[in-house]
Amino acid sequence: MSIELELSDEVNAQAVRNLFPLYCHDISEYDGSLPNRNGIFGEDGQKTLVDPDRELDSWWGDRDRRIPYLIKVDHIPAGFCFIERPEVPHEGADNYVIDFFVIRSLRNKGIGQFAAEEILKKYPGRWLIRISPKNKPARRFWQKVVKSMDGEPSIEETVDDEDLVCYRFTIA
Ligand SMILES: CC(C)(COP(=O)(O)OP(=O)(O)OC[C@H]1O[C@@H](n2cnc3c(N)ncnc32)[C@H](O)[C@@H]1OP(=O)(O)O)[C@@H](O)C(=O)NCCC(=O)NCCS
Repeated sequence: MSIELELSDEVNAQAVRNLFPLYCHDISEYDGSLPNRNGIFGEDGQKTLVDPDRELDSWWGDRDRRIPYLIKVDHIPAGFCFIERPEVPHEGADNYVIDFFVIRSLRNKGIGQFAAEEILKKYPGRWLIRISPKNKPARRFWQKVVKSMDGEPSIEETVDDEDLVCYRFTIA
């Protein structure tokens, strides 16, 4: 099994865009979000899955600050990761994981962990990840990933104003 991490560009953006509603549906189990009136887990005005979700456009607009990755397994789109790196660090963080997804048929095979470790290594610094408290798989996932990194970084867990669990850690 080959796992590739590709910076998403105009050529492969379609694969990330197509996977995004699947991710939103998975997340809806934890945050209670609903589809729009057309049954799409996407922006309000989106009528069909053929129409692009304009709310995602910013992921392909500023490569230094908002960085989309496509995860491929045996050359097939298998997930994605959105990283944010604010120009001026705030909340004591240099890097954020905003969204992270592996398709269901390829879960529990170490693919997410491999991709996450590769990404964390690319961006040393202080990281912040917010997760719904109900999303226990993701919470276990990030705890495992961070502890597996070189130096076994310590991971701090807090709860923010929106009751989201915040994981903070530093990658050297
Ligand atoms: C969370 C997610 C990315 C994990 O991807 P994955 O490729 O299945 O994860 P891995 O196989 O690499 O698992 C690595 C470790 O994470 C933990 N983990 C992963 N899935 C888990 C689950 N369902 N329950 C408990 N622990 C889990 C385990 O510790 C696992 O290590 P182990 O197999 O040695 O015990 C995937 O389940 C997913 O896309 N979920 C839906 C979207 C989501 O919640 N994203 C996170 C938002 S930040």
